[in-house]
Amino acid sequence: MASGDGRAYGYRAGTWDPELVQVGAGTPAGELLRRYWHPIARSTEASPLPRNVRVLGEDLVLYRSLQGTPGLMLPRCCHRGTTLFYGRVEDEGIRCPYHGWLFAEDGRCLDQPCEPDRGRNRESYRQPWYPVVEYHGLIFAYLGPADKQPVFPRYDIFEDLDTETEEIVVIDHFAFGGPSDAPCNWFQTHENAMDPYHVFILHNAISGPQFDPKLEIWPRIEWQRSEVGVTATQDRRLPDGTILHRITETRVPTMRVIPTPTLTVLGKTNNLSWALPIDDTNTRVYAMVRKPKDRPPQGLPVYGDGKSWFDLSDDDHQRYPGDYETQVGQGPITLHSEEQLSSTDRGVSMVRRQFKDQVRRVADGLDPVGVTFDSSEALQSVIAGNYIVDATTDLATVPLAETLDRATPGD
Ligand code: FES
Ligand SMILES: [Fe+2]
Repeated sequence: MASGDGRAYGYRAGTWDPELVQVGAGTPAGELLRRYWHPIARSTEASPLPRNVRVLGEDLVLYRSLQGTPGLMLPRCCHRGTTLFYGRVEDEGIRCPYHGWLFAEDGRCLDQPCEPDRGRNRESYRQPWYPVVEYHGLIFAYLGPADKQPVFPRYDIFEDLDTETEEIVVIDHFAFGGPSDAPCNWFQTHENAMDPYHVFILHNAISGPQFDPKLEIWPRIEWQRSEVGVTATQDRRLPDGTILHRITETRVPTMRVIPTPTLTVLGKTNNLSWALPIDDTNTRVYAMVRKPKDRPPQGLPVYGDGKSWFDLSDDDHQRYPGDYETQVGQGPITLHSEEQLSSTDRGVSMVRRQFKDQVRRVADGLDPVGVTFDSSEALQSVIAGNYIVDATTDLATVPLAETLDRATPGD
């Protein structure tokens, strides 16, 4: 904090809130994150050629056995420690290149070729491993305690696919307006989803307009704490007299459900995304989209005079900053102690408070929101969307309709 007349002399950088930003094992927030499944790679990245991946600050090796099963393990071989990155993938698992121990996907040692009888006690060795699940082109991993492993969740918007005409694709550019990865803490990228006001400034006045012109109409904005996250609702009256009721969600811990800002999809949204905390200062966002096969997924946003993020020069990045520039621009980990939160940051505050509540629940030995151990409850329902509501619509059919009752767009 600077003092006196506010000049920078004497300014000292502040601190960040560890309960929001730390992702490592043993940290309070890292232990909350380890109670959920996280996307760690595209399915195509799991192949018989092992690849290094970094997840929640842990370095791991991902591969796919010749039988087609993905595996995720610590790279350091439990025999004498060389890396399985150089391992040979076989039908049943991965074989260490040094002395040939063979490990199944669940870490069991299947073969020790140098030992008598190929390892009389091989069952007693286990390579440290993590469980994985494949879902619509992404590989998800669970890095938490075995007795707390939740059922893998599925989402209603990705169910009952008409495989003749529809497909689900994974795209990279959803969160940062171009790149999939950003060199900053995941939480500052996540809370942005509950910051609708930046859209009018950053994505419109400064670098836009980047989205559908209807989103330039200033809406009534409210936030609600839901059972599993925080939602933001925007209600705006459109020129034809209907109301656009737009709902955006965050879900504990890392999910954002953001309806297409180009308004190409009306009704319940067709996509959701996850922030993957690679480590404390690196984040990747995976987005999954359901779409008609004959239509391309939402393209890259344009900046200024029609360029994509990847075409911008260094000067252009200054002229047309976007989500990447502003979120990375907050620093590797934003300094919470130096912020001046204002009335329009309410959604950000709510996301933080809810996340910290869950951090403390886990620290107290309780289960966090959104996990279930009952496989009959695996299916989760998304509510985010762009809902067009007119006077004849039964509001009971519109998610969070009570919000619409309270909000009077145009007031
Ligand atoms: S170090 Fe892996 S088998 Fe020896
Ligand atoms: Fe944005």
